[in-house]
Amino acid sequence: MTLLRAAIAGTGFIGTVHARSARLAGARLVGVAASTPESAQAAAVELGAERHYASAEELVGDPDVDVVHVCTPNHLHLPLAEAALAAGKHVICEKPLALDAAGAQRLVDAAAESRRQAAVPFVYRYYPTVREARERVANGQTGALRLVHGTYLQDWLLRAGDANWRVDEQLGGASRAFADIGSHWCDLAEFVSGHRIERVSARLLTAVPERASEAGHAFATAAGGGELRQVTTEDAALVQFETDAGAIGSVVISQISAGRKNRLWIELDGTEEALAFDQEHPEELWCGKRELLTIVRRDPTTLSPGAARFATLPAGHPQGYADCFDAFVADVYEGIAAGSTIAGTPTFADGLRAALITDAVLTSAREERWVDVAASPAAVAT
Ligand SMILES: NC(=O)c1ccc[n+]([C@@H]2O[C@H](COP(=O)([O-])OP(=O)(O)OC[C@H]3O[C@@H](n4cnc5c(N)ncnc54)[C@H](O)[C@@H]3O)[C@@H](O)[C@H]2O)c1
Repeated sequence: MTLLRAAIAGTGFIGTVHARSARLAGARLVGVAASTPESAQAAAVELGAERHYASAEELVGDPDVDVVHVCTPNHLHLPLAEAALAAGKHVICEKPLALDAAGAQRLVDAAAESRRQAAVPFVYRYYPTVREARERVANGQTGALRLVHGTYLQDWLLRAGDANWRVDEQLGGASRAFADIGSHWCDLAEFVSGHRIERVSARLLTAVPERASEAGHAFATAAGGGELRQVTTEDAALVQFETDAGAIGSVVISQISAGRKNRLWIELDGTEEALAFDQEHPEELWCGKRELLTIVRRDPTTLSPGAARFATLPAGHPQGYADCFDAFVADVYEGIAAGSTIAGTPTFADGLRAALITDAVLTSAREERWVDVAASPAAVAT
């Protein structure tokens, strides 16, 4: 059997996670690229890659690579993913897919033309309890949804000394907190509810007006140094929305909420029951009925088949974020082998949805009015 040949551009926090998942899914890690040839060489040793490339551009053009994982800062997603598709590669490109919806649309078009697998790691979809919630909504158990609400809170950018490339809009994009983590929440809300966020009313907050100019590592606090520099991207966002199926909702997104590390929390209130999922406690799904409260455990023997598929360990043996990543990459690779996208895989079309919502949020906040989310074209099956 010929093993899939994977290469990873960007070997920071998430590139390392991709490398592990690629291996577990049965790929050969043929090479890595980083910001300099020296750091790529060091990363190749650390991650056990067969080689390093002098640049990400060299990596995406290598005929000996089948699938490219784009794990760089955001501004490089569009050029690298576009070049990889043009070179006939399958692509897993990190979120946000591009710096704006126009860029994301270009990638959706390029992916359709290439007929290669093109996926975005909205990996929270891969928690078995998330799949269980989706199943309950889809089969009518939850009833018609009236409210979809929640938060995605972190604290690693709480202080002026906390800095990262994400703060710089040239590298991260005009939206920071919302595009970075709000995109995950919106994808999850749409994936579980089956609704589409149709209109938004948003407020943005830049609470820390100046930050250290020398960036540190993501999620490492007090990591920056150098002169203070003015911040133009938001630390937090508050978004109200309406869906295409008659629900209303709200979400608070923040990278400055002390003590909150990765608190993605979502609740869906239907006519028959309410469901709540908390990413930091993902082994349980809270199901509220007026007469009865139930905690659904991640137990492969009792979950619905669609959810049990992702419950790889017995109940009581906790699974987490890395398992979601492994399941996501495994499904993308299975889609590559099958020549068609595995159901539930987040694709570039989903990356475009997030970009369209982000653009609407930015416009709403700037113009202080409700804004319609532009329609996204139908996803093209590969
Ligand atoms: N899906 C998820 O759950 C998830 C989680 C975290 C980050 N991300 C996304 O992953 C991407 C990377 O984030 P991170 O937290 O790993 O950042 P990071 O700063 O830890 O890593 C970025 C890496 O990119 C490399 N890089 C910079 N310029 C480069 C270039 N020109 N060519 C090749 N490599 C280059 C750096 O050397 C570094 O290794 C971002 O787009 C982010 O939004 C997604």
